[in-house]
Amino acid sequence: MIPRRPLVAGNWKMNGLKASLAELAAIRDAVAAGHAGDAEIVVCPPATLIAAAAELCAGSRIAIGGQWCHAQSSGAHTGDISAAMLKDAGAIFVIVGHSERRIEHAETDGLVRGQAEAALGAGLTAIVCIGETAAERREGRTLAVLERQVGGSVPTAAGPGSIVIAYEPVWAIGTGLTPTPADVADAHAFIRRHLDALMPGEAGAVRILYGGSVKPANAAELLAAADVDGALVGGASLTCKDFMGIAGVYRSADASRGDRSP
Ligand code: PGA
Repeated sequence: MIPRRPLVAGNWKMNGLKASLAELAAIRDAVAAGHAGDAEIVVCPPATLIAAAAELCAGSRIAIGGQWCHAQSSGAHTGDISAAMLKDAGAIFVIVGHSERRIEHAETDGLVRGQAEAALGAGLTAIVCIGETAAERREGRTLAVLERQVGGSVPTAAGPGSIVIAYEPVWAIGTGLTPTPADVADAHAFIRRHLDALMPGEAGAVRILYGGSVKPANAAELLAAADVDGALVGGASLTCKDFMGIAGVYRSADASRGDRSP
């Protein structure tokens, strides 16, 4: 099996003012103290905070990400933001295809793929979100939706180093509801099989995150599910305490033994 480094990403959504950077500094310091083990930690603040967040985390173990990018590299698109701009501001990652964008802005698989391609073109790693709605799940169409979204949203030129998949059932986002770990494992294995068609021989190295109501109380069992390589965390990423309560699942025995903090 190809080893995959765990990744825990926080999506702050439309939350956060300059004062919120104090929380990011606390996250940075907790990760530096070993509280997340060897996991890779990403925080995606709103676009207005990316440059300051990147400066605050420069030289640390925290990577900064954007929450969206345009499919075009520049042009007459008032209010939008390009992948190159995110990169220029200090981002390393960008989320594309989040269900809130797909639903609130009618973003299609094709558009999401264009955004992911733009991200790759700018040198960013794209976190491509997919997941079924409650109605699709009720109708037994979960796997068909995931197959369509993987085939339609993931760039064919993507490789394990440039792409991360986040499986986020829409009905689990912000609701406190979660699938069972067994359901998550099934979905992730299915996604990985379909990724194999896009990048033969490389799908085993792609990280697939689970997202949707991940909290400190359920993180251990969700992250222990087979084929789960980390989490995309919304609400619980807004405070250091909750975010570290999740990322702390990856804290190794060594790190805790070496922790001299009071
Ligand atoms: P949540 O959001 O953790 O608040 O459910 C997850 C997400 O939308 O990425």
